[in-house]
Amino acid sequence: MIYRKKFGLLFIRSFVIAFRSSQRFFLRMNSTEAEVGLEFNKTTSAEILPKNEDVQQTLVEAINSTTFNVTFIPSTISLIKTPLATAAPTTNTTTTTTTTPTTNTTTTTKPTTTTTTTVESIVTKRLTFRSAGEIFTNDLLITSSTAFKNRAELLKTHLLPLYQAAFSSFRSFIVISFSNGSIINNIGLEFATASQPSNTQIRDVLVKANSTVTAFNIDITSIFVDGTQTSSGVSHTISLITAFSLVLLSWLLSTQQ
Ligand SMILES: *[C@@H]1O[C@H](CO)[C@@H](O)[C@H](O)[C@H]1NC(C)=O
Ligand SMILES: *[C@@H]1O[C@H](CO)[C@@H](O)[C@H](O)[C@H]1NC(C)=O
Ligand SMILES: *[C@@H]1O[C@H](CO)[C@@H](O)[C@H](O)[C@H]1NC(C)=O
Ligand SMILES: *[C@@H]1O[C@H](CO)[C@@H](O)[C@H](O)[C@H]1NC(C)=O
Ligand SMILES: *[C@@H]1O[C@H](CO)[C@@H](O)[C@H](O)[C@H]1NC(C)=O
Ligand SMILES: *[C@@H]1O[C@H](CO)[C@@H](O)[C@H](O)[C@H]1NC(C)=O
Ligand SMILES: *[C@@H]1O[C@H](CO)[C@@H](O)[C@H](O)[C@H]1NC(C)=O
Ligand SMILES: *[C@@H]1O[C@H](CO)[C@@H](O)[C@H](O)[C@H]1NC(C)=O
Repeated sequence: MIYRKKFGLLFIRSFVIAFRSSQRFFLRMNSTEAEVGLEFNKTTSAEILPKNEDVQQTLVEAINSTTFNVTFIPSTISLIKTPLATAAPTTNTTTTTTTTPTTNTTTTTKPTTTTTTTVESIVTKRLTFRSAGEIFTNDLLITSSTAFKNRAELLKTHLLPLYQAAFSSFRSFIVISFSNGSIINNIGLEFATASQPSNTQIRDVLVKANSTVTAFNIDITSIFVDGTQTSSGVSHTISLITAFSLVLLSWLLSTQQ
């Protein structure tokens, strides 16, 4: 109904490909992922066919403005596959839905013709960092509280665009929890498994963000990715190797003389 309303006769049908227990969120959430196919009229020229972003955005907006019996997580809606230019115009979209209390759904679109659909494999990286000098209040422990929602939104507004810009494999940003100390921020970052960045790369985005983000504090000495402090150890290693190379180079130069 959503797509018919938006695209009229261009839209032919939708069909469910699969439901699965989603591994994309967090263990404490009980989520279902729905993969759905959306078929568009294949005789239509490429220019008139809805753009991928429109296909995705249509669902995001519909979810935002309609009350369903299941709770969708708009940020998890993704297009997992679109047809080749020459193939029939059909698009595979992925939508994730959460049922109360928590269920993940992914919707994906598929072309009736050709091509095999691969469901993108997603990996979740746990990013934890400390905001020094900020006051922790107990309502930050409750995900439905205004304090939690506001802070989650604040983090997302500032950090999501940075991760999006840094990694094409970036898929979503989910604030999991906060804890005392001053404030420990616990975040889930989802990436396409095939091209996921390293823990150090994930950390470096946050380190860099420290110089531009003023809305909250980022203590760059307390950044953990998947529980590991990927801190300056790496750069120390690099500088050691560099130093060693320089020493070796000067040694080579001096022996040649
Ligand atoms: C819900 O989805 C998330 C991420 O998509 C995943 O980590 C989590 O395990 C899912 N929950 C269930 C019960 O599948
Ligand atoms: C997930 O849902 C199943 C079936 O409804 C239920 O038995 C289980 O306790 C739920 N798990 C969580 C963590 O809510
Ligand atoms: C697809 O579009 C063509 C041309 O506009 C139309 O003739 C045809 O009936 C459409 N097919 C379907 C299944 O709606
Ligand atoms: C959802 O709806 C609210 C209020 O109508 C609007 O401010 C917001 O931009 C919408 N979000 C999306 C993703 O469309
Ligand atoms: C939504 O849930 C209510 C109560 O469980 C039920 O009566 C209604 O039929 C459901 N609507 C749909 C569209 O499933
Ligand atoms: C979309 O998914 C379906 C079902 O898995 C698959 O048959 C179809 O080929 C996919 N479409 C594209 C364009 O990959
Ligand atoms: C947070 O931890 C500090 C230091 O241990 C403590 O003084 C404060 O009461 C805690 N705040 C809350 C809300 O638990
Ligand atoms: C992080 O940002 C704060 C506030 O701008 C600044 O005081 C601090 O020196 C920065 N840390 C680093 C390592 O740049």
